[in-house]
Amino acid sequence: MGGDELKHENFDFRGFDVPELKAVTLAASGPETVESELAAGGKKSSGKNGKSGGKKADKADKAEKKGKSVAKEAKKNRIGLFTPMGLRDVTVRNRIWLPPMCTYSALARDGKPTPFHYQHYVSRAFGGFGMIIAEATAVAPEGRISPCDVGLWEDGQIDAWRWIVDGIRNAGAVPAVQLNHAGRKASTGCFAVGYEGQSVPEEAGGWSTVAPSPIAFGGLNAPRELSVDEIHGIVGAFAAAAGRAVAAGFQAIEIHAAHGYLISEFLDPLCNERTDEYGGDLEGRARFLLEVVDAVRATVPEGMPVLVRISATDWAAGGWDLDQTIVVSKMLKEHGVDLMDVSTGGIMAGVSIPVKANYQVPFAEQVRLKAEIPTTAVGLITKPKQANKIVARGEADAVEIGRAALRDPYWPLRAANKLGVPATEAPYQPQYIRGAY
Ligand SMILES: Cc1cc2nc3c(=O)[nH]c(=O)nc-3n(C[C@H](O)[C@H](O)[C@H](O)COP(=O)(O)O)c2cc1C
Repeated sequence: MGGDELKHENFDFRGFDVPELKAVTLAASGPETVESELAAGGKKSSGKNGKSGGKKADKADKAEKKGKSVAKEAKKNRIGLFTPMGLRDVTVRNRIWLPPMCTYSALARDGKPTPFHYQHYVSRAFGGFGMIIAEATAVAPEGRISPCDVGLWEDGQIDAWRWIVDGIRNAGAVPAVQLNHAGRKASTGCFAVGYEGQSVPEEAGGWSTVAPSPIAFGGLNAPRELSVDEIHGIVGAFAAAAGRAVAAGFQAIEIHAAHGYLISEFLDPLCNERTDEYGGDLEGRARFLLEVVDAVRATVPEGMPVLVRISATDWAAGGWDLDQTIVVSKMLKEHGVDLMDVSTGGIMAGVSIPVKANYQVPFAEQVRLKAEIPTTAVGLITKPKQANKIVARGEADAVEIGRAALRDPYWPLRAANKLGVPATEAPYQPQYIRGAY
C-alpha cells in the first residue's frame, strides 16, 4: 500500500462525489479484489454482486482474448497518453483528462462561475490536460448538490461560463461540462455554507429534494417522489442546459448518471421502487437516462460528443452492477453517446469498496470491450507510467486524473517528461516552453 492509498483513506470525501471510502484497503480486503471479480466474469461467486458459472467463465475467456487483441492493437498503433483522440468533430490533444470535480465555489449562490473557476480550469488547461470536464453543473436550482454549485439553468449564467470556456480552448484543451441533477443528494452542505455531509436546513438556504422514490440517502432528508410530468420537466431542463452549454462554447457534454445523483437513482433498483414506466425492469429504470440522452443529443450539434458518466456498480448486494452497466452502455451507444466515463459507487450509503490504485480500471475495460464503446478510466491513477499503461494496453481510451491534478495542475507536462516525450511535442504553452523540463 503506497502513500497515495493511505492519503486516500484520510481524505474528506463527504460521501457525495467519490465512492464512500470506508478505508477498505487492499490489505484489508484480502485477495478478492475488483480484478479477481472481473476475471470471474464480472461477478463474485459469493453472489454479492451477481452470479457465477461456466458460461460466465467462457465469456470471460473470450473477453480476455479480445482484450489481448485490443491491447496488441493499441501497442501496434503506438497509442499512449499523448496520442490525440477524435470524438465526432472534436480532436482532443491527448488522453489525460480532468474529471469533473465540484468546487462548491459559486459563493453568491446564483450558479455563476467566478474568477476562482477561471483560474482553476484555465491553469489545468495550461498544464496540458486534453479534455477539461467542468464540475457537476446543475440543470435546475433544486438539482444543486449544495447551494454553491455552478449551474446552467438560466440564460444569465451563459456569459459567466463563456470566458472560462474561451480560456480553456485558447490553451489548447477541449472544454466539456458535466450536467447534473442531484436528486435525493441535493441541498447538502459545503465549506462555504457549513452542514457538510448533511442536509442544509431551509433557514440556511436549503430546499426539499426529489427522487424516483421517497427513500433517503444515509442521514440526509428524505426526498419526495417525482411525478411523471416533473420527470418530463427535468428531461427538458437537461436539454435546455445543454443548449446553454453550446452557447457558452463548450465542445462536449457529459451527462452525470453516476454517484447516486438523480439519473443513477433511477437506474438502481435499490432506490427506484416505481411501478410506472420509469421503474421496474432495466428498460424502465433506464428510460429517464435514455430520454435525457435523446433530448441532449437532439439539442447539441451533430458533431459534438456526448459522454455519460456512470457508476459501474453500487457495491451493494442486489443493486446496480457491471452487467446492467454493459447493457445500458450498449443502449446509450445506439442513442448516440460517444464515450462512457466509468466510475463506481456513491449510490448507496454504508457500502465497502476495495479501494486501491486502478481499482475502477477493470470496469472501464469491461465496458469498452463488451459494449464496444470508448471509455475513460478514473480513480487513483496518479503516476505517468501507470496511466500510460492503461491507455497503451487498451484498458481505456483515456484516463482521468482527479485529486492528483488538484495538487499538481501541470501533471501532464510532468508526465510528458517522465515518459520521454520531447518538450516540443508536449502540451506546453508557447510562453512557457523555455521552462520545459
Ligand atoms: C473534490 C472532488 C469533487 C468531485 N466532484 C465530482 C463531480 O462534480 N462530478 C463527478 O462525477 N465526480 C466528482 N468527483 C469524483 C472525481 O471526478 C473522480 O472520479 C474521483 O476523485 C476519483 O479519481 P481520483 O482518484 O483521480 O481523484 C469529485 C472528486 C473530488 C475529490
